Amino acid sequence: MKLLDGKKVASALDESMGKRVEELKEQGITPGLAVILVGSNSASSVYVRNKKRRAEKLGFDFQLIHYEDTVTETEILNKIDELNNDDSIDGFIVQLPLPDQIDEDKIIQAIDPKKDVDGFSPINVGNLWIGDSTIKPATADGIIKMLDYYDVKLKGKNAVVIGRSNIVGKPVAALLLERNATVTISHIFTKNLPEIASRADVLVVAIGDPKFIKANYIKEGAVVVDVGMNHDENGKLCGDVDFDDVLDKVSMISPVPGGVGPMTITSLMDMTIVLAEERAK
Ligand code: GUN
Repeated sequence: MKLLDGKKVASALDESMGKRVEELKEQGITPGLAVILVGSNSASSVYVRNKKRRAEKLGFDFQLIHYEDTVTETEILNKIDELNNDDSIDGFIVQLPLPDQIDEDKIIQAIDPKKDVDGFSPINVGNLWIGDSTIKPATADGIIKMLDYYDVKLKGKNAVVIGRSNIVGKPVAALLLERNATVTISHIFTKNLPEIASRADVLVVAIGDPKFIKANYIKEGAVVVDVGMNHDENGKLCGDVDFDDVLDKVSMISPVPGGVGPMTITSLMDMTIVLAEERAK
């Protein structure tokens, strides 16, 4: 069994990203990334703190705009308008989820697709499925970068994605398809999930249910990517896959923490640098 060590891959990729930032700075351009965070959702706060740390380490201009969870939709839309028109900002994201009084779709659609570094706006989602996108959603892209690093071949392989969110499930399915895998997307209404999952050469799990996936979901020798970020009964961080239960069956598996999480941030940074490189042209 080999560990898909996202932390290690992320720090290897950070080196070359650091060089690209230096080159941009020589041309007078500093990559600018902004994050809008609403409220105090603990997972979101951790994700945003990690994004800030990595952005600053790479030498970006990083702006955090933090609102109380009582903020109105109009206030956020005004801020989005400001960021859309701020030449020092290459990309920005609105950390999800948002409180109930705010229409998530309306917020995402207000972001200029050229600055939508999450790749969630309809135009970028369309480009992703056409197979012609500059901006790819960070978690999905990070997973592919990690599989590439470990030389996991995808062409002609059975890939099963469990979970169909706009943030992870759908975009990772699109990228696996682009790599010529045969892709199955399964979800909460899927029948016979263990049978479907155990056909997977590559299994990506993004459901948000602690240790849900056991050995009976796994094909012998499968590569398993665990996107879950949950707390177990003792409050310890864990994934959607029961790591100890599946360990003897998998050929490779990403741990939680230290697997997909660091790769998501790497991809977000990479995408921001790409947008800054576009500005430099
Ligand atoms: N919430 C969980 N993951 C993400 C992400 O990648 N982007 C945003 N904007 N919100 C998230």
